[in-house]
Amino acid sequence: MRIKIISNSTQETMDIGVRLAKHLKAGDLVALVGIFGAGKTYFTKGIARGLGVKRPQEVISPSFTLCHVHQGKKSTLYHLDVQRLKNPEDFVDLGIQDFFGHGVVVIEWADKFRQLFEPLHIMKVVFKVQGRNKRELSFSGRGKRFIGLGKKLKIKR
Ligand SMILES: Nc1ncnc2c1ncn2[C@@H]1O[C@H](COP(=O)(O)OP(=O)(O)O)[C@@H](O)[C@H]1O
Ligand SMILES: [Mg+2]
Repeated sequence: MRIKIISNSTQETMDIGVRLAKHLKAGDLVALVGIFGAGKTYFTKGIARGLGVKRPQEVISPSFTLCHVHQGKKSTLYHLDVQRLKNPEDFVDLGIQDFFGHGVVVIEWADKFRQLFEPLHIMKVVFKVQGRNKRELSFSGRGKRFIGLGKKLKIKR
């Protein structure tokens, strides 16, 4: 089941992230898909806030550093950006999979290495740019807690 939610501002995108975070726990993977500027990092700021990270505004794209670790009150956040990784072996060599299970893992450009995520409990979010401030976020979950969860994330206007 795929649930689509429209966001009309960075604030709304962050709020949806906060709401998703309420349902996340260590071991979960949030797979973010979408072009540059689609809102993946803003969404992750929201997740950080929802997980109780002290300064969620400091969450920035780990485009060059690959992974940022943020301590949250509720859970640790492992924020990855795999856009620059060339092949799946890099992913394995870097030991990224060791993060799974220790905290919530959020991966930007997750569609690059889809095959590596197959066995996991995943919430996938696809971002589409629909205007200067308008984004479509489409949620599809795998695993008991995530199927149908998209509906609960909708903003009540
Ligand atoms: N509704 C929206 N949600 C998220 N970002 C938005 C929205 N409208 C405009 N933007 C802009 O789009 C860009 C999104 O940046 P970012 O979250 O870093 O994207 P990504 O990580 O996908 O490359 C920012 O410049 C932000 O101001
Ligand atoms: Mg980003």
